[in-house]
Amino acid sequence: MLPAFSVLLALSLHVFPPTFAAPVVISGYAPVPATCPSTPLVRTASGISSSEAAYIAARKPVASAALGNWLKKVDSSFQTSNLPTVALTTSGGGLRSLLTGAGVIQALDSRDSNVGTSGLYQGLTYEAGLSGGGWLLSSLAGNNYPTVSSLQTNLWTAAFANSLAVPNGPGAPAALAQISLDITAKSAAGFQPTLVDAYGRLLSYQLLYGPDGGVSDDLSTVATLSSFTSYSVPFPIITALNVQTASGACTPPDNAVIFEFSPYEFGSFDTGVNAFTQTKYLGTSLSNGQPTKPTCEVNYDNLGFILGTSSDVFNEFCTAFPAIASSPGLLATLAGLVNQTHALTFMDEYALYPNPFYQYAHSSLVSAQKNLTLVDGGESHQNNPIFPFLQPSRAIDVMLVNDNSADTSANFPDGSELYQTYQQAQLAGLTRMPVIPPSSVFISKGYNIRPTFFGCNDNSKITIIFLPNHNYTFPSGQSTAKLQYSPSETDGMIKNGVQVATYGGNATFPECLGCAIVKKTGGALPTKCAKCFADFCYN
Ligand SMILES: *[C@@H]1O[C@H](CO)[C@@H](O)[C@H](O)[C@H]1NC(C)=O
Ligand SMILES: *[C@@H]1O[C@H](CO)[C@@H](O)[C@H](O)[C@H]1NC(C)=O
Ligand SMILES: *[C@@H]1O[C@H](CO)[C@@H](O)[C@H](O)[C@H]1NC(C)=O
Ligand SMILES: *[C@@H]1O[C@H](CO)[C@@H](O)[C@H](O)[C@H]1NC(C)=O
Repeated sequence: MLPAFSVLLALSLHVFPPTFAAPVVISGYAPVPATCPSTPLVRTASGISSSEAAYIAARKPVASAALGNWLKKVDSSFQTSNLPTVALTTSGGGLRSLLTGAGVIQALDSRDSNVGTSGLYQGLTYEAGLSGGGWLLSSLAGNNYPTVSSLQTNLWTAAFANSLAVPNGPGAPAALAQISLDITAKSAAGFQPTLVDAYGRLLSYQLLYGPDGGVSDDLSTVATLSSFTSYSVPFPIITALNVQTASGACTPPDNAVIFEFSPYEFGSFDTGVNAFTQTKYLGTSLSNGQPTKPTCEVNYDNLGFILGTSSDVFNEFCTAFPAIASSPGLLATLAGLVNQTHALTFMDEYALYPNPFYQYAHSSLVSAQKNLTLVDGGESHQNNPIFPFLQPSRAIDVMLVNDNSADTSANFPDGSELYQTYQQAQLAGLTRMPVIPPSSVFISKGYNIRPTFFGCNDNSKITIIFLPNHNYTFPSGQSTAKLQYSPSETDGMIKNGVQVATYGGNATFPECLGCAIVKKTGGALPTKCAKCFADFCYN
């Protein structure tokens, strides 16, 4: 998540009042009516969807073959039958997390590096991101999974050198005019745009290729891209939280239901929601799972809106919503864009979604809410999107958790986010989560500054490979509020992220990663693994 939002706004940049003079094309942002599907729009969360199950059934053999190749490369004596299902998560933490997480992925991607861990990305079956980690995952998925180095060269370096409020640098006025049109088009289509729409549009100019900041990229269209239809990539999931605004709340509680977005579905397994709807038809007015109008909506699931949703911290203003006139740079730009359509209220701090679970009996926590009011996935102090992977129906065995949280005053993780997830998993009866110690143990044992494995010795638990942000080669404890990186800072952060994944290039680490993965098969292990487990396993 993005803590200290006041700092974020204070740091942000030149006030850049939108100018609406440049020529613009028709907006591709607004939701549009479409024929409703013949399949049910809402289902109870009894397991993963049939679409996801079909993807995983095809993906898993591809991932296992790649994982086997990687293991054999590391140590030819590894047995490679019946390999485990492996997932990766990237935490919140703004651009600090995007860049560190990008370096981690580069170190795992055989297309993009030649280090001991290269090839493990190809062995993943699932990948999740929230907030800054969701920006990273969206930039990969929305662009059909280019390499990190090509994104760095062709998109990010220039984008991050400019402020978020000035998309495309010199082209900013045209971009802001186009975004302005997008916002008014959504309003004209009958949907209230909020600050999150404008924020998501601006972020999209930094993260997505294509006209008007990749406006044609919807999350559901990721499922039509060649990387996805060839089962070459891990199944992507982005998380967010709902705020019970009708009850007067501004922020989610620590036990907040965790919502997930995938190319197929949006919803939650958690008690209180326990339902999913089809991502493609988000925006549709539903009651008790049935459309209330003759037509459904498509195009509501704009990828920029969803990545903005997952990183929305505007709710931290609560009801004390600042007047535009006294707002700092970025907020003034966003507010100016939205204020063309209506006078702003505190509801504009949320990502608004017509509630797909309205009057749905299984979703008692939210069934009275006409709109879901979604915010940053890290606001319940679980800054790693782990919950979706604790579901028994996903059958994850090993999870790489790249934590780039700013728990400490130096903007590094201290294990408290993982501990919070462990505690909430216990309360929710999600027994696949391994035992995690409190942050005092992370700090005393150094688990906060080097990779540590949790759950090695219990095959009823997932093994978590904890990969904390640490400053190996670059001062990577950058503020979450920092939304502008010079080209050399972008490069230094990504290179440091490679070190995070390889434990600073430690020569035995790839072998030890392999040991932790193969251990979950219950099969024979190379003798070297005993030392690995002694070095890296907490339990
Ligand atoms: C938005 O615009 C309206 C009319 O243009 C104005 O009255 C209002 O004060 C503006 N500001 C906010 C915060 O809504
Ligand atoms: C919420 O939903 C209702 C009904 O769908 C809609 O009329 C209203 O404008 C929405 N927005 C807010 C901010 O409540
Ligand atoms: C990492 O942080 C420590 C403690 O602040 C500092 O001594 C060290 O120089 C830093 N290293 C890099 C590469 O920034
Ligand atoms: C690799 O890491 C292990 C565990 O921390 C350590 O014992 C070993 O010395 C490291 N190897 C090198 C070459 O630094």
